[in-house]
Amino acid sequence: MMMKATKAERGRFMLSCFFFIVFLCVLASINEARFHGLLKFGFSRYCAPANGSSEFNTDNSVSTNSSSDEIRILIGILTLPDQYLRRNFLRLIYGTQPPVEGAKIDVKFVFCNLTKEDQKVLVALEIMRYDDIMILDCKENMNKGKTLTFFSSLPELFNDTEAQGPYPPYHYIMKLDDDTYLRLNSFVESLKPLPREDLYYGYVIPCRSMDPFKHYMSGMGYLVSWDIAEWIRASDIPKKQFEGPEDKVFGEWLRDGHRGKNRYNAKWSMYNFPEPPTTCTHELWPETIAVHLLKTQEKWIRTLNYFNHTQNLKPSKLYHIP
Ligand SMILES: *[C@@H]1O[C@H](CO)[C@@H](O)[C@H](O)[C@H]1NC(C)=O
Ligand SMILES: *[C@@H]1O[C@H](CO)[C@@H](O)[C@H](O)[C@H]1NC(C)=O
Ligand SMILES: *[C@@H]1O[C@H](CO)[C@@H](O)[C@H](O)[C@H]1NC(C)=O
Ligand SMILES: *[C@@H]1O[C@H](CO)[C@@H](O)[C@H](O)[C@H]1NC(C)=O
Repeated sequence: MMMKATKAERGRFMLSCFFFIVFLCVLASINEARFHGLLKFGFSRYCAPANGSSEFNTDNSVSTNSSSDEIRILIGILTLPDQYLRRNFLRLIYGTQPPVEGAKIDVKFVFCNLTKEDQKVLVALEIMRYDDIMILDCKENMNKGKTLTFFSSLPELFNDTEAQGPYPPYHYIMKLDDDTYLRLNSFVESLKPLPREDLYYGYVIPCRSMDPFKHYMSGMGYLVSWDIAEWIRASDIPKKQFEGPEDKVFGEWLRDGHRGKNRYNAKWSMYNFPEPPTTCTHELWPETIAVHLLKTQEKWIRTLNYFNHTQNLKPSKLYHIP
């Protein structure tokens, strides 16, 4: 009798052990990434010898390897401190696009030093709520080096050796106009096959040209790889000549520095709004990455409607939009 009871008890005990282990496994697999990171962190922190910090470095890049295919893109929209309404509109535009597979995109508004008392409060409020603003050390200017300040500030601004972030912090940097509608999914799809070094991407100027190795990319939105931002910071070429139309000047730096060996002309996926028609315009069409010169609300509305931007509104009893 005694013997039997013990046997049954042992059986029950084994069974509950089994379920407990299964439970742990499930928990671990759910938390795998975090679990992993914790283990590694613990290891490098406490078990590594004198050069533990370099060990930590490697570990961290391993843990980001799970998303090593992910393209990291910084989009800088150059604007002015007082453009509150425009920024709020653009936040809607970039905050309501469908999720983008395989990319991490940060959209930031970029301007120079604040100049008015009210800006200190209003811009601070935006930062508290959205944290999507970069204030560069410069005086507001259109064609006198703001672009140079933007690109050449990046290596230092995102030099997160303390935070152990990935390198480069962004594979690509884009300068975007505030009257351009950028369709993030098409944009990322176009980037996926492209090199992540020495790349210069955009809508080649002049409008009739299809040769990205001549002249430059339009200021509506051009993109370069991170190494080019580092080059802009280090080189003397941009410092010598930065006045004039910012997009043209930018192209001249790359020409004179023999940079941008990889180029991609996104025309006619990028174009100016169809009206009024010029050699730079194109009809709205499905294969679109960017539409530029959206200078009026009516043009924005036509563009958003064409691309069904608001089509997937979730139904609710709280509103009715015919
Ligand atoms: C320590 O760092 C040096 C140089 O970075 C490296 O060659 C060496 O393998 C490291 N040693 C350990 C135990 O990680
Ligand atoms: C911008 O503001 C910073 C901090 O207030 C100041 O140190 C810097 O001199 C200013 N730069 C310009 C170009 O006005
Ligand atoms: C980045 O930080 C490292 C370490 O603090 C420093 O050696 C390096 O010069 C910095 N690079 C830039 C571009 O500021
Ligand atoms: C927008 O939606 C309509 C109706 O569903 C569809 O026919 C059209 O192709 C869509 N347009 C784009 C650019 O996807």
